[in-house]
Amino acid sequence: MLVASAIDLIGKTPLVALARAYTGPGRIVAKAEFLQPGGSVKDRAAKAILLAARADGRLRNGMTVVEMTSGNMGAGLAVVCAALGHPLIVTMSAGNSAARARMLEALGAEVVLVAQIDGEPGRVTGRDIAAAAEAARRIASERDGFYVDQFHAEEAIAAHEATTGPEIIEQLGRPPDGFVAAVGAGGTFMGVARALKAVAPATICAAVEPRGCRPLAGEVVVQPRHLLQGVGYGSIPPHWDPSLMDMSLGVGDEEAERWRRALARKEGLHVGYSAAANVCAAAILLQSGRLRRDATVATVLCDTGLKY
Ligand SMILES: Cc1ncc(COP(=O)(O)O)c(C=O)c1O
Repeated sequence: MLVASAIDLIGKTPLVALARAYTGPGRIVAKAEFLQPGGSVKDRAAKAILLAARADGRLRNGMTVVEMTSGNMGAGLAVVCAALGHPLIVTMSAGNSAARARMLEALGAEVVLVAQIDGEPGRVTGRDIAAAAEAARRIASERDGFYVDQFHAEEAIAAHEATTGPEIIEQLGRPPDGFVAAVGAGGTFMGVARALKAVAPATICAAVEPRGCRPLAGEVVVQPRHLLQGVGYGSIPPHWDPSLMDMSLGVGDEEAERWRRALARKEGLHVGYSAAANVCAAAILLQSGRLRRDATVATVLCDTGLKY
């Protein structure tokens, strides 16, 4: 396969069966999003937002792109910006792992680290993210840049509805019985759920939230600090569509750690914490008795473990 640029390496990830780490009832299959050039599921949103902005004139040739990121959106943007010739400035909470800043800088991005408000290294809260977003907005206006604003960009949801969801159906040969995904900006969960429910309205779609930080479940947030970097910011995302969520599943830090180790050692898949939480939640759903014993639950391996 010859492709024109790294942008064409985004999407069309394989669907991998996780039959070693999870032996039933039912089976778990997962999109290998860590294989994308930026190393995460966010490459899809980055590509969709920037191409739409170029198409309608909001992003002109050579213009600087600015965004707040937990690292993954920034890496996706850095890949697309490099291929299209846009300078990129990203703001990131200092609580996100240093490996992310290294990758962003290697891809040519300018990284501005923002001090944490109430989180701690490795545990980034909604208030930490808000501070980083405020810095990005300020820099975008000072430098006349294009502010990506991923939390308000509909293109991210549309990208998953047009690509990730249909890919799962095509790769399985039918819609899965269930789908689970952790929620950051919510593009992955909402886009895929929308695509699956359009074809098979009975598909059970579960949002995954860190235990103690579950606003989607209607719970008061008591534990804003958790290991699931990139998701679980303690508030409901701006474009959240509650009609797509059949249930919310909570996953604790220790369970995420345990599944992360199991995926690495039993499957050969060294992935991040949100990916491990997704697989843990898929197992909880299959063991809940809500689905048939031979059901298939699909999920997403959001990023590589090398980013932590
Ligand atoms: C590691 C990780 N997992 C999952 C997600 C969730 O993606 P979404 O923003 O589509 O909800 C993100 C988003 O940044 C992430 O960084």
